[in-house]
Amino acid sequence: MSHFDYQNGVLHAEGVALPAIAEQFGTPTYVYSKAQLLENFDAYANACAGRDALVCYAMKANSNLAVLNLLAQRGAGFDIVSGGELLRVIAAGGDPKKVIFSGVGKSVDEMRLALEHDILCFNVESIPELHRLNDVAGALGKKARVSLRVNPNVDPKTHPYIATGLKASKFGVAFSDALDTYRMAAQLPHLDVAGIDCHIGSQLLDDAPLLEALDRLIELIDALAAEGIHLHHVDVGGGLGIDYGVAGEEAPAPAGDYVTRVFRRVDAWRTERHAGKGIKVIFEPGRSIVGNTGVLLTKVEFIKHGEEKNFCIVDAAMNDMARPALYEAWMAMQPVKQTSAAGAVFDVVGPICESGDWLARDRALPVESGDLLVMKTAGAYGMAMASNYNTRGRAAEVIVDGNQVHLVRRRETPAELFALESVIKD
Ligand code: LLP
Repeated sequence: MSHFDYQNGVLHAEGVALPAIAEQFGTPTYVYSKAQLLENFDAYANACAGRDALVCYAMKANSNLAVLNLLAQRGAGFDIVSGGELLRVIAAGGDPKKVIFSGVGKSVDEMRLALEHDILCFNVESIPELHRLNDVAGALGKKARVSLRVNPNVDPKTHPYIATGLKASKFGVAFSDALDTYRMAAQLPHLDVAGIDCHIGSQLLDDAPLLEALDRLIELIDALAAEGIHLHHVDVGGGLGIDYGVAGEEAPAPAGDYVTRVFRRVDAWRTERHAGKGIKVIFEPGRSIVGNTGVLLTKVEFIKHGEEKNFCIVDAAMNDMARPALYEAWMAMQPVKQTSAAGAVFDVVGPICESGDWLARDRALPVESGDLLVMKTAGAYGMAMASNYNTRGRAAEVIVDGNQVHLVRRRETPAELFALESVIKD
C-alpha cells in the first residue's frame, strides 16, 4: 500500500492533505511518510530475523537526522562515506559500532575519527588505503577491522553513472588481485582482516547480478580460508532498485525476497561445501529504504507557451532534485488535485538559469499557475544531493506520521547562504 494517496480528490501523505503542508511550510518541500520508511526498513529486517545479519542503511541516499534517528531506533546500522556522515549518525542517536565506512578516498582525519568511535569495519578500496589505515591505527594503538571491497566484474545492467563494479570503475580491488591484497593486509600489524564486500551499482531491477556478485565473494572466502585467512562477514552492498513508475520497466525485486535469496545462497554454501559457518551477512541498502518514502511538493509559478514547447515553470529546480539533470532520470509528476482533464503536454522546469534545469519532459499535466504538483519517489538522492546553486535556499523537509506533520529541516534563509563568506579587508 502506498502512503501517498488521493483522498476526496486531494493527494495526501498518510492522513495529511498536501495543500495544508504547502500552506504551513511553503514550497518546495520534501514530504516523507514515516510509515513507509519503517515498512521499507522492516522488509529487510524481518527477512533477516533469526540470522546473524546487519542492515547498514546507506545514508548518502537521505541523511536527514530524523530519518536516521527513526532507523537507528529500529536497530539499523549505517554505511557511511565521510567523517561528516559519522558525526550525523552520532547526532541522530545511531550506534557507531554498527557503522561501516565505504569510499575510495578516506582522509587521515576521517580514519582517526572512525577509529576513535570504534566503528564496525572499514571497507577498504586500495593498497595505499590499507597502508594509511594501518599507520593511523598504529599511531592510536588500535587495530582497525577491515574488509576489502572487491570488484566482482558483474554487469549490473544499470545507468553507467551508477554502475560501480565493472573493471573500468574507480571502485574496489580487482577480483584477480583480491587474494594477494588480502595476504598483504593480513601481514599488517594494526589491521584485523574481518570481512569482504562489494557494491556493483544502484537501481538494479533484477537481483540476479547481486546474487552473482555474492557467489564470486563466496569463492574468495573459500580460497582465503584454505590459506588460513578466515573472514567473519560478507557485505553484499546496496543497489536494489525501486519502482519509479517508468512505463514498460520491469518491477523491482521486493527487498524481502531478495534478502531471502541471499540467505538461500549462504545456506547452500554451508551444506554443500561445509563452509561459511558463523558468517555474518551485511546489507547496505539506500534507495530501497527511502526512495518511495518521499515526494517533492512544488508550486507552479507560470505556464509559458514557447515556440516549440509548453513549459510548466515550478518553484523546485535542479538544485533541489538533480537526478533528471544528472542522469536523465525519469521522475513521475502528479498534480495534487485530482482531475479527469488530460491537460497540455509540458516540460516541467525550474527557475535556474540553465537549460539543464528540468524535472520532467513531455508530460501531459492539467495544471495552471498557482497549482501544486508533486514529484513522486523523490526520497532517495533528492535532498541529499541538493545544492544552493543560484543562491537558492534548500527545500524544507517534513515527516508525516498519521495526522501529524513534523518539520525536520527548516527552509534556509538567504542570509544563511552567505553567512560563512567574507570580503577581503585591506
Ligand atoms: N553502498 C555503497 C558502497 C554505495 O556506493 C551505495 C550507493 C550504496 C551502498 C547504496 O546504494 P543503493 O541501495 O542506494 O542503490 N545518486 C545516484 C545513486 C548513487 C549511488 C551511489 N552509491 C542516483 O540518484 O541514482
